[in-house]
Amino acid sequence: MKKIILAITLSIAAQLSVAQDKGLKDYYKDYFPIGVAVSPQALKGPEAELIVKQFISITPENAMKMGPIHPEENRYNWTDADQIVAFAQQHGLKVRGHALCWHQQTPSWIFTDAKGDTVSKEVLLKRLQDHITTVVSRYKGKIYAWDVVNEAVADDPTKLLRNTPWYKICGEDFIIKAFEYAHAADPDAILFYNDYNTERPEKRDRVYTLLKKLRDAKVPVHAVGMQGHWSIFEPSEKDLRATLDKFSSLGLNIQITELDVSVYPSEKFPRERRQGESDVFTSELENKQMERYKMVFRVLREYKNVITGVTFWNISDKHTWLDTYPVPGRKNYPLLFDQNLKPKKVFFEVTKF
Ligand code: GLA
Repeated sequence: MKKIILAITLSIAAQLSVAQDKGLKDYYKDYFPIGVAVSPQALKGPEAELIVKQFISITPENAMKMGPIHPEENRYNWTDADQIVAFAQQHGLKVRGHALCWHQQTPSWIFTDAKGDTVSKEVLLKRLQDHITTVVSRYKGKIYAWDVVNEAVADDPTKLLRNTPWYKICGEDFIIKAFEYAHAADPDAILFYNDYNTERPEKRDRVYTLLKKLRDAKVPVHAVGMQGHWSIFEPSEKDLRATLDKFSSLGLNIQITELDVSVYPSEKFPRERRQGESDVFTSELENKQMERYKMVFRVLREYKNVITGVTFWNISDKHTWLDTYPVPGRKNYPLLFDQNLKPKKVFFEVTKF
């Protein structure tokens, strides 16, 4: 009898230790790869351990954006991006490249000539081609997917495309060309159009319009990234499903590329923190966040045939871009790991299925 009890106890203990060793990526291995956005600073110490245990894919948070990686016309800064790719290779992680063409974090030289005048469409497209060819070729075979164009659809619901220097100089051709250049540089890479608020009905429709146009014109866009900068208030299950249905109806795969669930309502414009504005992570906020995350992952699991990846935007609540945006100094708690890198209650909820 004692022996049987001992055997049972040992087997429970063994199962528990397996459970403790399991990371998010293991719970989701039959669904989709789970990734995280990283900076080079996170590639050592406890954060590196957490990355390797929990995730199977990484995205450079900033290191491959045009400004950081290509600060001057004839100078690339590979240091950070190379480190991130080397870390991935060392640990057998996939890498999503982010982002080849965006209107923010662009280098100042790109839109002007030596005299400071705006360059022609021809010059700008040539610069874009050189940039994309150089960056994509360098990491060919090491980066399996690229966010090629980021956030080209306008916030203004009456317009399709955002009125950026890219658009002003090139019209919509910059989007088409960006995909063509990336496809020529690495025909095996999966090419994404990436955007935010894709679950809000009117933005969803405009992103769909753009994607449909690109698909009809046989532009090599293979997949769509829904950034997933969500909050305890949105998206609703209905809106999330509607977007997944609508985008996948174009034959595109989908990834959630920048997932976090803010504990505050979405605000677009930066502002100062209001006097007395609390940033305590109350149990009410914790529960609301848990419900939103549970719903999101339940729906995503259901759509595993079209979802090819889910990437969190930052590792833990210790540092998140939402600590400074849109309200500098207001702490946010949008991720599955707390400020000490320990799993929050929500972690256990999204891994219980
Ligand atoms: C957008 C970009 C990301 C990042 C976030 C904020 O979603 O795609 O690269 O800059 O904003 O961190």
